[in-house]
Amino acid sequence: MNEEQLIERARGAALKAYAPYSRFSVGCAIESVDGEIVTGANMENACYRLGLCAEQSALTTAQHAFGLDKVRRIAVAGGDGSGSELKGEAPVTPCGGCRQAILEAAHLSGTDIEILAASGDGLKVERLRIHNLIPHGFGPANLKDSA
Ligand code: THU
Repeated sequence: MNEEQLIERARGAALKAYAPYSRFSVGCAIESVDGEIVTGANMENACYRLGLCAEQSALTTAQHAFGLDKVRRIAVAGGDGSGSELKGEAPVTPCGGCRQAILEAAHLSGTDIEILAASGDGLKVERLRIHNLIPHGFGPANLKDSA
């Protein structure tokens, strides 16, 4: 699957977001090393802090479908999902918590996972790497002194 197609999958997934509080729909598409694709979207809650981000929703599905260690590339897009197509001009980069979750997958595979951060309309794309998004991130090696 090419970049454009993966971003389209993320944009499509955003239309399935449940985001009545922020009204900001985010979609995420994850590609495995074998070319399998899974998607996810944000899911909010009346108890605001329980909301789930699109990336973590998609990562959970990735773990079930092919395993976190097989994550190769991730596309994210967000914006106004109230119509038949996702709208918005600003690229969406993963929040801090999602960066940490993606880093976990990167540690498992030993790769610097690529992230395509797209605008809602899909026209702007930032090509990023997880180790640039979360330098000096906390990982399994930081737990080496645990009991
Ligand atoms: N959101 C995501 O799904 N992913 C991100 O990386 C940034 C934020 C969601 C959470 C919330 O439902 C909405 O966007 C507004 O913050």
